Amino acid sequence: MLVAPSILSADFGHLATDVIAICEGGCDFVHVDVMDGHFVPNLTIGPVVVEAVAKAATKPLDIHLMVENNNFFVELFAPLKPEFISFHIEEEKHPHRLIQKIRSYGIRPAITLNPHTPPEAIEFLLEDLEMVLLMSVNPGFGGQKFISSVLERAKRLKQLIEKRNPACLIEVDGGVNDGNIKMLEEAGVDVVVAGSFVYAHPEGVNAAISALK
Ligand code: DX5
Ligand code: ZN
Repeated sequence: MLVAPSILSADFGHLATDVIAICEGGCDFVHVDVMDGHFVPNLTIGPVVVEAVAKAATKPLDIHLMVENNNFFVELFAPLKPEFISFHIEEEKHPHRLIQKIRSYGIRPAITLNPHTPPEAIEFLLEDLEMVLLMSVNPGFGGQKFISSVLERAKRLKQLIEKRNPACLIEVDGGVNDGNIKMLEEAGVDVVVAGSFVYAHPEGVNAAISALK
């Protein structure tokens, strides 16, 4: 299982230290939640802060856009050369065009689906995608309860992926912990995002990342 801790649960007063900790603790990607206060009822960080995160990180960034104007934010974050940029399908009229744009920057394109969105919604985009992110909470905040219907969505997505583009990864984000990771793995999930489980773990981030792996 690949693990992408979400820095939304880090201590923003010591952000570089907390980014270094997860990288040294064996994470695979650094998950960065970008919220605009419009698509979701929360506001997080822009390119100035993410640039500092990129400087501290020794692992690639996985940028999760939760914004209304995807095109604008893709242009804003592309110069930071993240590994992935994902955008929400619910907020994009021209997803195929935006996928091509992300790829033109040398960044791996991904699409995120809210808890109500069936995987079939993106079936005909799969061959152009590197990853699909399934939300297992409503986007906007860390520390929420896991919505277990994501397991069925992951299984259905896995079948579509096997047919259309077996190299495409499945990522799940929200409420992930050591109690549901096994079910996620059995459902075909490749990458998990975990915020509060990693940063609030009583034995520290290394123990949390090892427990998930
Ligand atoms: C929610 C974010 C998540 C969140 C996960 O909108 O996309 O990445 O930080 O936090 P936990 O793991 O605490 O649910
Ligand atoms: Zn996220």
